[in-house]
Amino acid sequence: MKRFLIAGNWKMNLNRGEAVQWGQQVASAIAEDHPVDIVVCPPSVYLQAAGEALTDSPVSLAAQDMYHQPNGAFTGEISAAMLVDLGCRYVVLGHSERRHILGESNELVQQKVQAAIAAELIPIVCVGETLEQRQAGQTTDIVQEQVAGSLGALSPQQVSQMIIAYEPVWAIGTGQVATPEQAEEVHADLRTILENRYNHEAATQVRIQYGGSVKPENAAELLAQPNVDGALVGGASLKADSFLGIVEAAATCLNP
Ligand code: PGA
Repeated sequence: MKRFLIAGNWKMNLNRGEAVQWGQQVASAIAEDHPVDIVVCPPSVYLQAAGEALTDSPVSLAAQDMYHQPNGAFTGEISAAMLVDLGCRYVVLGHSERRHILGESNELVQQKVQAAIAAELIPIVCVGETLEQRQAGQTTDIVQEQVAGSLGALSPQQVSQMIIAYEPVWAIGTGQVATPEQAEEVHADLRTILENRYNHEAATQVRIQYGGSVKPENAAELLAQPNVDGALVGGASLKADSFLGIVEAAATCLNP
């Protein structure tokens, strides 16, 4: 039986009041024994406010990024321990906006993944191809290179407990969602890649989310794919109602 993980990534959006309101609305809608794992990734400056609004709810907090060093002269950066201190359980690493806009390399993502795991944060590691790469037939090679470069020498046991998000760059924020078949194909490839690099158990247990223009209207058909274990949601997570619609689509998939 799948255990879906639905995460809302606000990116650089909302203000403090909106963050609190979102947290209160979601907290009041989600029962303690909700069958879906629910995660919210507010901007780091609102982690505390959102976390307080979500106290007593099963919704977990995630950061959108972190730095791999434990402390020191790294102006503007935030360590894994600081995120744990604020109540974070997860951290998104290697999001395509960080890879493409901020120039993050696989090597840097790998250092962050190791530091996150050492601090007992669960990494949500993002991979995905650009439109040009897809059109050139390079999708599998690209995600394979990103998995190898970003996960490196983790143990199968460490891999089994993390989250991978397949986010085709051409589908992020564009409204152009991957078809369920396109998503399933890459998710299945990712399991093979992970099985070859680690082992069968790690490849089966790791949860692979799809991300890129997920909305309440298209969530159910994506989540119904055998290798899709959840969604990483950007734009449609900014309004509590639409985020809750995606969470409910996941719950309905479990109990049609
Ligand atoms: P989107 O973003 O849902 O707005 O396409 C997804 C993401 O970047 O995680």
